[in-house]
Amino acid sequence: MNRILTLEDQDKLTELEIYLEDRSAHILGYPCSHYFDYTPLYKFLKYPINNIGDSFYSGGTFEVNTHLFERDVIDFFAQMLKAQENNYWGYITNGGSEGNLYGLYLAKRMYPSGIVYFSEDAHYSIEKYIDLLGLKPQKINSQKSGEIDYEDLEEKVKFNLGFPAILVANIGTTMKEAKDDIQQMKQILDKHNIKNHYIHCDAAFCGSYAQFLSPKPHFDFSEGADSITISGHKFIGSPIPCGIVIVLKHNKERVSNYINVIDSLDDTIMGSRNAITPLIMWYAIKTLGTSGLSNRLHECLDVADYAFEKLKTAKINAWRNPNALTILIISSVSKELRQKWQLAMHNGISHIIVKPGITKEIIDAFVLDVEKEFDFLKPEVSKPVVFTMVPDFEAQNQHKITRDNNK
Ligand SMILES: Cc1ncc(COP(=O)(O)O)c(C=O)c1O
Repeated sequence: MNRILTLEDQDKLTELEIYLEDRSAHILGYPCSHYFDYTPLYKFLKYPINNIGDSFYSGGTFEVNTHLFERDVIDFFAQMLKAQENNYWGYITNGGSEGNLYGLYLAKRMYPSGIVYFSEDAHYSIEKYIDLLGLKPQKINSQKSGEIDYEDLEEKVKFNLGFPAILVANIGTTMKEAKDDIQQMKQILDKHNIKNHYIHCDAAFCGSYAQFLSPKPHFDFSEGADSITISGHKFIGSPIPCGIVIVLKHNKERVSNYINVIDSLDDTIMGSRNAITPLIMWYAIKTLGTSGLSNRLHECLDVADYAFEKLKTAKINAWRNPNALTILIISSVSKELRQKWQLAMHNGISHIIVKPGITKEIIDAFVLDVEKEFDFLKPEVSKPVVFTMVPDFEAQNQHKITRDNNK
């Protein structure tokens, strides 16, 4: 590089930094954590590293890679997710979505005529990849909590007897952080004698900590999972989107191809692959370990409890699944507030997600903003003001809060 930036361009970068500093401190509605410091890794940005090929394969002629670190990360998560020793394989993806694609791709290679069962609360990437892979979709109703409706699943399985079943389980749905139970799902398959089946777990947000929850959700390899995807930039945190996908090695071996030109196995979705993100994930697991992840979870649960209580005290309509770090704000929040705190919205409901880096002070600032907005609105609405619940939530709101200005 022999040209230097003009002053105008340098200003643009300064503005970007100020902008990102502010916006990163206000991510309440998305699961991405900004709580990380990978400074010791900056020096690796000067190499043209590329993790093309299979990091578990000993060949490969391209050597400017971080395969060794990628393998360590996969080993760590495989152990945490109780994969059988010597029967797992995986790689660092571009994010949870790519892991969904990989899981479904493997399932399709094993069961081309399989039917994919997924709940209406599944991430939007699932339907897209079913379409991309030319698989047959079967959408299942969700319970009001967002968890899959097991009765509906059984009904639809019964209707499709004779076809292999590819089940997608959500271990933390996008909006409500509901967790499906793969043991219950598997029981349905066993009851109807469906021997050809594949279970993919989309654990994008919760996968890196769900093993430390009590009660522990049923989704790991010892409980019947065939593949699990986790996002790296969510609970763990990363400046570059990434994820971890782990599958059973004996399944993956049915589909991998040896590629002469790189002297490696082609078993990833992409050819050239990010080699910085495996380093980032490696640094995170080495500095945190399982105890660090577990501690972070408990800190987040503490802040989530605090946030929920705070909302309740402020009489703001909120709802939360048990043990979830996601709190739904049922009352409608203005576009300005959604913009300020980057709150995603679905069917008029937004949510806040407590992940590492979200402090009680941030929660206080957010609740104050919502309170101010409601107080501003107060004179314009006739009393009593009851922010209506979305009908779906009426019946089962264990944590229902109603804002009533008469109180
Ligand atoms: C349940 C679920 N699955 C998959 C994804 C996609 O993950 P990523 O953004 O890492 O591709 C998300 C994203 O929020 C999600 O909530």
